[in-house]
Amino acid sequence: MRAGFGFWGLMFVAATSVAPGHAADVDHGRTIAQRWCAACHIIATGQTTAKADAPPFEAIAKSRTAPALRLFLANPYPRMPDMSLSRDEIADLVAFIKTYGLAPSETPEPPPTEQDNPDKDRRG
Ligand code: HEC
Repeated sequence: MRAGFGFWGLMFVAATSVAPGHAADVDHGRTIAQRWCAACHIIATGQTTAKADAPPFEAIAKSRTAPALRLFLANPYPRMPDMSLSRDEIADLVAFIKTYGLAPSETPEPPPTEQDNPDKDRRG
């Protein structure tokens, strides 16, 4: 038993400290989009069915900045169901949408830090 705990204890610390924090998660954003947005929006190339008047995510990425998208998704919109997305879900969705491009004059956002999170439980 000698020294065994110390070694595995260290391995545990090493493994958990590299786990991602609350940075926006593009894969999670894609999952949400497939579930909640794909009925109306084209969310990926190759998708064939969508509502004609809902712009594809690629067009949205190229016409709206990330902050504008977050604001849009944080508020109810008459022509879309109120999906009651959390701040984290919105951040993930916007990160996914932004993989399709940037609006004119928009520069890529730096990755979010913990400082972006103090008000993450506040609802708009
Ligand atoms: C019931 C159908 C429907 C669903 C579901 C839906 N949308 Fe929409 N969405 C629309 C329609 C229709 C418009 C266009 C409204 C307009 O131009 O007035 C739109 C517009 C938008 C816009 C604004 C685009 C722009 O530049 O004006 C964004 C952003 C958006 N949707 C994101 C989403 C996201 C993200 C989801 C999933 C969480 C989603 N929508 C789910 C129908 C839907």
